[in-house]
Amino acid sequence: MKTVTGFRQKKSEGGRISLITCYDYWSARIISQTPVDAVLVGDSLSMVMHGFASTVHATTDMMAYHVAAVARGLTDVLLIADLPFLAHRKGLRYLMESVDRLMKAGAHAVKIEGGEEVLPQVRHIVQSGVPVMGHLGLTPQSVNLLGGNKLQGTTPPAAQKIMKDARLLQDAGVFGLVLEMVPADLARQITQSVSMPVIGIGAGPHTDGQVLVLQDMLGLNPDFSPRFLRRYLNGFELLKNAITQFDADVKSGNFPSDKESYT
Ligand code: KIV
Repeated sequence: MKTVTGFRQKKSEGGRISLITCYDYWSARIISQTPVDAVLVGDSLSMVMHGFASTVHATTDMMAYHVAAVARGLTDVLLIADLPFLAHRKGLRYLMESVDRLMKAGAHAVKIEGGEEVLPQVRHIVQSGVPVMGHLGLTPQSVNLLGGNKLQGTTPPAAQKIMKDARLLQDAGVFGLVLEMVPADLARQITQSVSMPVIGIGAGPHTDGQVLVLQDMLGLNPDFSPRFLRRYLNGFELLKNAITQFDADVKSGNFPSDKESYT
């Protein structure tokens, strides 16, 4: 399913879509050996890979650098790249330069946060021949306005606004929609009322697919335990133990052995 048409087709066939974040070459090589449908070079990389407190710190330079690394390791997987904080608010020229850089770095599509307020930008990008994914509910680039990474759409007006935005984004031509941190029932209603696939994160089981941050699902971030996260590995402990063992082997003289040495 390398193309966005495959993405849409999967929904029409009732299939479910798996999306995972990816920020680097070696993770891309591993993901390419799995049936995962698509990767997202998310602006969450500013937190996960660079240690910043929010996604506000991601820049077009950063995104393009990571997209290029991922693209070098990825085979036959759709690569979606996040447009970073304010890229769509600095004028059309800046926006399209950012889109251009992400696509030339190897992305097949871009993702943009927001609803009604970003429709002209979404339309312009789509009309330029670049597939766009929407992102509603918790939009982390607005964390400072939202007062934290909180559940969204919890009041009837807030839920109606997300529903309306989803339909508007559909009409503007997005090929898919990320729905983050909304009640499961709202996610179900939205999923049933739009034609493009809805990919949930913290949005319950009724969406067309799910996305998780790779490092979170591998258990590499033990301090991050939201209710929606399922960990598939205790990665932090496993890596820590392997590195500790290496240190012990070096210091005890156990590494390298004769077999690991040249004659
Ligand atoms: O940046 C990101 O990783 C995202 C996902 C959480 C959907 O937008």
